[in-house]
Amino acid sequence: MTETGGWPGGHPPTAPSGGPPPSVTSDRQPILQLRAISKHFGAVEALSGVDFDVYPSEVVALVGDNGAGKSTLVKTIAGINIPDSGEIWFEGQHVAIHGPRDPAALGISTVYQDLALCDNLDVVANLYLGREEVEPPVLLLSEERMEQRAREVLKSLDVKIPNPRNPIAALSGGQRQSVAVARSVMWKAKVVLLDEPTAALGVQQTKQVLELILRLRNQGLGVVVISHNLANVFEVADRIVVLRLGKRVGTYERKAASEERIVAAITGAEFGKFQPQV
Ligand SMILES: Nc1ncnc2c1ncn2[C@@H]1O[C@H](COP(=O)(O)OP(=O)(O)OP(=O)(O)O)[C@@H](O)[C@H]1O
Ligand SMILES: [Mg+2]
Repeated sequence: MTETGGWPGGHPPTAPSGGPPPSVTSDRQPILQLRAISKHFGAVEALSGVDFDVYPSEVVALVGDNGAGKSTLVKTIAGINIPDSGEIWFEGQHVAIHGPRDPAALGISTVYQDLALCDNLDVVANLYLGREEVEPPVLLLSEERMEQRAREVLKSLDVKIPNPRNPIAALSGGQRQSVAVARSVMWKAKVVLLDEPTAALGVQQTKQVLELILRLRNQGLGVVVISHNLANVFEVADRIVVLRLGKRVGTYERKAASEERIVAAITGAEFGKFQPQV
């Protein structure tokens, strides 16, 4: 990762696709800004010229039809996909993300749909999984210290796990998702990206995870949530960003948006065109 200095003149970069998107939060500085991000896979333009902002203490929902480019956008921020062009800014610094370690070092965490938890290990072990190379050096921590810290983290997020020494395989889907989210934020995360966090969950478990998302926001994090469930989106999101065929086609303040308008943006239908005449 390289840092190439602050915004020229203290302003966010303007890009061919336009400057920062209009928003009532424009008096605050975004923690994360993507500008004119493009990514193709062979002949597929998965992303073209996408601008995307995340502010501290907000939940941004990223919505769009299958194949719209949502996961590609998240993987670009996560350092899994390297964009063909475009810029990424974090806390006012232009940053280059060359791999997953770069966003991790910045405080950007991702929870993928498959969660990447180890079923046979207990909750404590999963919370520490894969962090060996990240400060602080967790290998030097004793089992007791790890368990104590795991309990503290779960408590601070109000995640109720009967016993953190239970294997992941013994948890419900909602509890697993909560452990994955807790793991992603326990290392000083400032932005967390959740790809379909409630897709496989029942009503009660979905509620738990949505509450956890709001708790993260209230703790000051910028939370990006991909979801196909617009009811969930309207429950937690402050802003809704719509992708269609790799392009950002709309950004909406949740309070000013309707599900009908979002659906129209997702499908490309003209808003109101098919409303019945009265
Ligand atoms: N690694 C890849 N190799 C080739 N094509 C890819 C790859 N990743 C994504 N694509 C293509 O890029 C486009 C965007 O895919 P992406 O996974 O970002 O969509 P999505 O919005 O997350 O869809 P879904 O809602 O189905 O998860 C699709 O046409 C997909 O087939
Ligand atoms: Mg996806």
